[in-house]
Amino acid sequence: MERQTLEIQELHVSVEGKEILKGVNLVVKPGEIHALMGPNGSGKSTLSYALMGHPRYEITGGDALLNGESLLALAPDERARQGLFLAMQYPVAVSGVTLYSFLRAAVSAKRGYGEAARASGNQRLHGRLIPARQFRQEVNEELEKLRMDPAFLRRYLNEGFSGGEKKRAEILQMALLKPTFAILDETDSGLDIDALRIVSAGINQLQQEQNMGLLVITHYQRILNYIHPQFVHIFLNGRIVLSDGPALAAKLEEEGYDWVQKQFEEQR
Ligand SMILES: Nc1ncnc2c1ncn2[C@@H]1O[C@H](COP(=O)(O)OP(=O)(O)O)[C@@H](O)[C@H]1O
Ligand SMILES: [Mg+2]
Repeated sequence: MERQTLEIQELHVSVEGKEILKGVNLVVKPGEIHALMGPNGSGKSTLSYALMGHPRYEITGGDALLNGESLLALAPDERARQGLFLAMQYPVAVSGVTLYSFLRAAVSAKRGYGEAARASGNQRLHGRLIPARQFRQEVNEELEKLRMDPAFLRRYLNEGFSGGEKKRAEILQMALLKPTFAILDETDSGLDIDALRIVSAGINQLQQEQNMGLLVITHYQRILNYIHPQFVHIFLNGRIVLSDGPALAAKLEEEGYDWVQKQFEEQR
């Protein structure tokens, strides 16, 4: 059997001709929780977008492998089907598409309903989607865990959602897709303390059930009080400059990023 890992090898990424990621190396195994912490503008979101296959982020060197196979040639939806998930820092609003129909389409695609329908020659729309009743039941269970009002399902995706509501909608999506590896990009930002507790509990439960590998990207240590990483990496100027255990997150909380910047300045 193939080793189940997410492996980032010497990854270089440019945006609009400017190199942002300058050789990132990281291995995440199933069940492991890694925190990636770094100052604003250090390239954390660039890493998450590049891993998910955003077309604006050009891979200029290195590789990213999921279960031993390169992700780079795969479209974002194929990466999702392979078990990769990104909870975005800034989820986009899509007018005209309800959260319900978005989630149903995403779950159906991930679970291969479209392919099954195509293979059997079924052209009817409903054959390409998870049955409504089954989906309703699943989504209601997850809504309850995240203490979200079912009325959200009828609203257009992220349109007029508060910062915290957008983050909950991302985690709702993750709970339904059940990825094997998830990148959470500043999921804590915009969540008040009660919401953070609820959302973290949802993430922890899913992480344990699925033995999910997690990459928790965060600027602040706060979320790590609820989601406990075994590994903490400091990201600076497009690369990981320091990796250690959870104590490193506490040190950052206490001392900020100044000392990191000073210590690794010459590596710029
Ligand atoms: N789509 C983009 N267009 C232009 N510059 C970008 C784009 N995405 C990221 N960058 C630049 O890349 C750098 C890293 O940004 P980002 O990955 O968002 O950092 P972080 O998530 O650590 O705050 C910044 O200087 C930012 O301006
Ligand atoms: Mg970011």
